Amino acid sequence: MSDLRRLLGLEDCFEGFEVDPTRVDMQGWNSRHPFFDVAISLVKPSLIIELGVWKGMSSIHMAKLLKAKKLPGQILSIDTWLGSSNHLAISGRRSELMPEFGYPTVYTTFLSNVVSSGHHDRIVPLAMDGNSAAYALKRLQIKAGVIHIDASHEYGAALSDFRTYWPLLADDGILIADDYGSWPGVTRALLEFAAEQDRPVFTSMGKALLPKHPTMGFEMQFVKRKDYKRSATPSEA
Ligand SMILES: C[S@@+](CC[C@H](N)C(=O)[O-])C[C@H]1O[C@@H](n2cnc3c(N)ncnc32)[C@H](O)[C@@H]1O
Repeated sequence: MSDLRRLLGLEDCFEGFEVDPTRVDMQGWNSRHPFFDVAISLVKPSLIIELGVWKGMSSIHMAKLLKAKKLPGQILSIDTWLGSSNHLAISGRRSELMPEFGYPTVYTTFLSNVVSSGHHDRIVPLAMDGNSAAYALKRLQIKAGVIHIDASHEYGAALSDFRTYWPLLADDGILIADDYGSWPGVTRALLEFAAEQDRPVFTSMGKALLPKHPTMGFEMQFVKRKDYKRSATPSEA
């Protein structure tokens, strides 16, 4: 039994689960962003928390990175597996949830993906709403080295996620937020939150990275050399 499951008193949800090959579907969004590698390499987390898992692509990617770096960490993958506001507000998107008798079944796809990719030894699913999970984890004094937040796209909910998950981040930890720059609500919430915490935000290709400790940052080097020439653009060539 994994330490994390024992700590949380969770059953082994993979025990006896048989993959239905028709449910394997490795679809995700921006799930292999380079920030995962940056954060995991720097922090070497024994625990990663992911809020907003969907079919498991970012959890699976982080499990792969942990293994490639020979790190023993585990990932607590939190989701309701009930979808987001857009699955109701945007016409035609409900079918993505694959409802059976009116109830979404994305969780079956998630389990099938995790087991068929062989990462069920690192991923511990927690089917719960993000807010309740955060309060419980705080009470249990659980802290993570890396937290990836990729749940609601709405301003108020995203701000609440940042505020409730920040205390769960270790002092030398890194928070990664998805949808920065692409969803106005998340972007505004993240910038407000970073200002509240007086922490810098590093962004690239739809994700933002917030290091918790003041000594952690990003150094970009500008160079000044006699032989430095930027490569000619086609019109200059
Ligand atoms: C964009 S998807 C996550 C994508 C995933 N990280 C990937 O890389 O493929 C957002 C997920 O957040 C979940 N979600 C939305 N609001 C939530 C909440 N309040 N608590 C838990 N999960 C939530 C949805 O069920 C959905 O699976």
